[in-house]
Parts: sequence; C-alpha cells; structure tokens
Amino acid sequence: MERLFTPFKAGDAELVNRVVMAPMTRSRATVGDTADALTAKYYQQRASAGLIITEGSQISVQGQGYLFTPGIYNDAQVQGWQQVTQSVHEAGGKIYIQLWHVGRISHHSLQHNGQSPVSSVAVKANNSTCYARNENGQPGPVPVSEPRALSVPEINAIVQDYVQAAKNAIDAGFDGVEIHAANGYLLEQFINGGLNTRQDEYGGPDPEHRLRFVLDVTDAISAAIGAGNTGIRLAPFGRLFDMHPFEGEEETWLLLAEKLSKRSLSYVHLSDQQTLGEQAIPAGFTDKFRAAFDGPLIIAGGFDKQRAEAYLQQGKADLIGFGRPYIANPDLAERLANDWPLNNVNRETLYGGDEQGYTDYPFWSDSPE
Ligand SMILES: Cc1cc2nc3c(=O)[nH]c(=O)nc-3n(C[C@H](O)[C@H](O)[C@H](O)COP(=O)(O)O)c2cc1C
Repeated sequence: MERLFTPFKAGDAELVNRVVMAPMTRSRATVGDTADALTAKYYQQRASAGLIITEGSQISVQGQGYLFTPGIYNDAQVQGWQQVTQSVHEAGGKIYIQLWHVGRISHHSLQHNGQSPVSSVAVKANNSTCYARNENGQPGPVPVSEPRALSVPEINAIVQDYVQAAKNAIDAGFDGVEIHAANGYLLEQFINGGLNTRQDEYGGPDPEHRLRFVLDVTDAISAAIGAGNTGIRLAPFGRLFDMHPFEGEEETWLLLAEKLSKRSLSYVHLSDQQTLGEQAIPAGFTDKFRAAFDGPLIIAGGFDKQRAEAYLQQGKADLIGFGRPYIANPDLAERLANDWPLNNVNRETLYGGDEQGYTDYPFWSDSPE
C-alpha cells in the first residue's frame, strides 16, 4: 500500500494525502503587494495536494527583500489572500501561508524611508542579491545592503509583527501558518552561530541564546492562533545567503528539535537545499532530528515519487514537500498516484510575469490521447 496517498493529521488539519506543495516565491503580486485572482487560480489548480504552503509572504515592509512578493500585514493584502483561501477550500484543499521576514537579504530601497535592512548583527551577506529597483528605477537583482543589528525592543516588536501577521492569516481564511526560519533569512540569521555573535541574550556562543528569537516567535504565534495551526520551516546546515558552518552546528539543530517537541506544533518542515545548489543535509542527520523531535515532520528537496515513498515507508518523515515539480504540474498528486509523466519546469518563468509559466501548465487530463 502506498503511504503517499494515505491521510494524515497535521495539528488541527486533516490532510487527504502526504503530498505537500512546498513554499515557492513566484513574484507576481500586483499593486500594493497583494495576491489576486490569478494567484487564487494558481493555488486552486494545485488543491489536490494534501497541504499547500504558499510562497513566503512578508509580515511587514521591513521583512520584504524582493519586489512583487505578496504581504500579509494590511487589509488589502488580507482581502487578496481571502480569494486564494476560498478558491483552495472550494476545491477541497488545505492551505497554510508562509510568514516571511528576510532580515539582511534586502535593499534599502525596499525599506521605510530607505533605511538599512535589519539582522542579528551588522554584517552584510556576501555574494547575495535580492530583487529591487536599480538606480534607473528598473526592477532587477541588486546586491543586498549592509544591515544594522536589531535592539532587543525591536526584536520584541518583530515578534508582534509575526503575531499580527498570523492573526491576519486566520482572518484571511488560512488553515494555519508556517514560520519561515529557513534558507538564510532573519530567523536563521539569529540561529547561525557563525553569523550571530551578539553579546546579549539573543546571540553568542550559547545556542539557547541564538534559539531565543525563533522560539519567542513560535510561542507568540502559537498563543495567538493555536499550536495546532502553527508549523515551522528550518534548513539545518543551510548555506544559502552566505551562511557558514559553525561550532556545535548539529547540537544547535538538535537542541531546537528537542525544544520544538514540547510545543505540540502542527509540524516541522526541513528544507534540504541540495536542489537549490547548496550542500545537502548531511547523511543521517534528518534521522537524528526525527528522533529528537516528537511531532509531524515534513522533508522537502529533491523528491520524486520513489524517494518520497521510501522516506514514508522507512518512517523518516510523515509528509513530503515537492517544490519545482509543483510549479510545472498543477495535478502533481494525481500524476504521482497514477504514475503519469511529469511536465518540465520552465526556468525563465519562475519569477515575475503573468499567467505564462504560472497557471498555464497543462493538467494530465488536457493531454492529447
Ligand atoms: C522558484 C522557487 C521559489 C522558492 N521560494 C521559496 C520560498 O518562498 N520559501 C521557502 O521556504 N522556500 C522556497 N523555495 C524552496 C522550495 O520550497 C523547495 O525547498 C526547493 O525548491 C527544493 O525542493 P524541490 O527539489 O522539490 O524543488 C523556492 C524554490 C523555488 C524553485
């Protein structure tokens, strides 16, 4: 019996299968960084996934690092997302929103009054670009700006931004939220011991200090909307955006696993960055994480049906996240269930633009006989 197509309860959500659409930025938000009818169509097409996790959605202006990504901090954005959640629910799907603060992966032109982006410490990410307007006003990749270090009151204010965004998400009809603590963005900029050399209770050599911010966010969101509606994404050993190895790296991630265990979250979602061009999570680590974390586990990165099924059969994960295959295959769950061939992704249309490469990938049922 294939496990991929059996139901699973993740927190408060009853999922019809174990196929998860991984969060993917598509940079097609319209005026005011809102999701719109086209966004709703895109996610509705993919509603046969057990769970959809949306693209990262910035929790504040400060949390934005790319033009055209949809936010979740004002009324118009909540209304935009309402169309999306309604469409997905009408089609029988479940949908979480990914709550995003990019930290230092931003450009001053995206920030209020052209201020510096923020991070754990005032260290710029080398060889890293975000997406903003260049000096000619044209949108494009630009090197990230040098950040400034957050003060403790500012950290507390960002925790409140997360809480407000989570409440907004529930108002918008989402089944839950995923805290984006992966891939080199703000929360990982605090977790990573190579970068976060702060001298206070939010940083330095003690992993308890470096984990404080992410746990503050997790607890505050759980208190506001329920732990059973709260998931979190992590990228252990992540190297995206100039993240480096650090002493006690494995211990830090396993300590976090242990701490998250006690919190009855909907799930933890591990992002393996190998197919994004970075190193894989070291062999055996996800099993150690699984042993340390008592709760539902999603793993994403480089899965096809066979590998997904093997992970589930061996008990390595409860749910499997699919990224790029979901861009090109709106009916991925059916295609996997029936062993139908997959459409290939067009890399040219990943970010920005219109329906081309977004809502026009064919369903299997559209294929000529
Ligand atoms: C176009 C694109 C956009 C992405 N945007 C996000 C994002 O907003 N948040 C996130 O956590 N991961 C993001 N990712 C990473 C994916 O969620 C996933 O982990 C990655 O693509 C590996 O899975 P795959 O090998 O199945 O594609 C993105 C990946 C792609 C290809």
